[in-house]
Amino acid sequence: MNYELKSARYLADDLLSRIIQPGDTVIDATMGTGHDTLFLCEAVGPAGKVYAFDIQPEAVASAEARLREHGVLDRACLFCAGHQRMDEFVPEKVRAVVFNLGWLPGGDHAVTTLWETTRVAVEKALALLLPMGMLVICAYPGHEEGDRERQELSHLLSGLSNRHYNVLHQRFLNAAPGAPECFAVQKLKEPDKS
Ligand SMILES: C[S@@+](CC[C@H](N)C(=O)[O-])C[C@H]1O[C@@H](n2cnc3c(N)ncnc32)[C@H](O)[C@@H]1O
Repeated sequence: MNYELKSARYLADDLLSRIIQPGDTVIDATMGTGHDTLFLCEAVGPAGKVYAFDIQPEAVASAEARLREHGVLDRACLFCAGHQRMDEFVPEKVRAVVFNLGWLPGGDHAVTTLWETTRVAVEKALALLLPMGMLVICAYPGHEEGDRERQELSHLLSGLSNRHYNVLHQRFLNAAPGAPECFAVQKLKEPDKS
């Protein structure tokens, strides 16, 4: 079989499908129109659970319709709330957390993820991960805030202890400027409390 290196989104889905097992609990931190939420609902199966967040009511409505259409809405808890508050809504540890940064496809480009809230949410996501669980983030540096998120993420994640986390950053060196990039963080064990 030929294996082709593809986009950040492809790597994200590839990693997630290796990590997530039927019955798992996972988080979609940026629900949008629900493509990723649907992927996660299918990955966790009927015994699993997906918590999903978006700040735009039209995104939540669109994702809800998609999940209903595919018969998996009962596996999801959808919240019209910022992902920076995820710890208020998720009462358990999770196998995976997914962020697909930027704006709602076809929506208002002014409503985009922002580093200030993304940073808080990423820190909370790391705390919620089970050992060997994975955080996967697709960043879009083709616009100003997206480039800032990419740079700040790179800085924040580079500082994680390699005793506790494996951190991967994938980008195509010969891609067009602004091509999406993927960050993946696997929690090896809980950081020591200090
Ligand atoms: C690139 S889209 C996500 C696409 C989505 N995963 C899909 O499969 O369709 C980014 C989403 O993040 C949402 N967003 C922006 N700030 C947010 C925040 N603080 N918390 C949660 N979602 C946020 C936007 O409303 C937008 O729908």
